[in-house]
Amino acid sequence: MNNKLIVLGAVLLAAGCASGPTATEQAAMVDDARKASAALAQTLGGELKNAMTEKGPEGAISVCKTRAPEIAADVSKRFGVNAKRVSPKNRNPAGVPDAWEAEAQASLEKRLAAGEKPETLDTWQIVATPAGKTFRYAKALPAQPLCLTCHGDPATMAEGVKARLAADYPLDKATGYSAGMVRGIISISRPL
Ligand code: HEC
Repeated sequence: MNNKLIVLGAVLLAAGCASGPTATEQAAMVDDARKASAALAQTLGGELKNAMTEKGPEGAISVCKTRAPEIAADVSKRFGVNAKRVSPKNRNPAGVPDAWEAEAQASLEKRLAAGEKPETLDTWQIVATPAGKTFRYAKALPAQPLCLTCHGDPATMAEGVKARLAADYPLDKATGYSAGMVRGIISISRPL
């Protein structure tokens, strides 16, 4: 390679053209994604708990049905990302993971099994797509005892809850969990 090309390469790298976002930019995106997923989890979790207290689990199902997508849309807008919840055993028909999300959840499950703390389990990557580079982020949503009211073993779930779920989600796959299992992920993506 002649010197001019080496210099050009160095300039492109310094400008971030050849190498994508700098380490600082990447750290900022991860930080943002963590804030966005915390906002989603806290807002939805808070509304879910209130609805459970006020309306009981059957009433809370309809709150979840309307509010979960709305809260995800609000958070997406606020942080300039696309935020959603997905699971390989999805309840919402739109909650099917894509290949990156499925792999991300599998890797988080492995890290959980290896002893990592469930609260801080997340992963991210910059992936090349035909439309350009995309920042992708996944945060594990571990099942807590409360979650099992609607995601637990069908044999022990309340009849009313099962009936409501069967009516609203005829293709529901999201039962059979026990506490500590990864129920799904918050998935965040942002085109670069
Ligand atoms: C009152 C019943 C209820 C409880 C309690 C509940 N969920 Fe759900 N969950 C639902 C419903 C209903 C949906 C589908 C919402 C929708 O249509 O977007 C859902 C969807 C999800 C999804 C999206 C992926 C999918 O399967 O569609 C995740 C992830 C999830 N729940 C995790 C949890 C976690 C973690 C907890 C405990 C903190 C929890 N849920 C507690 C009813 C519940």
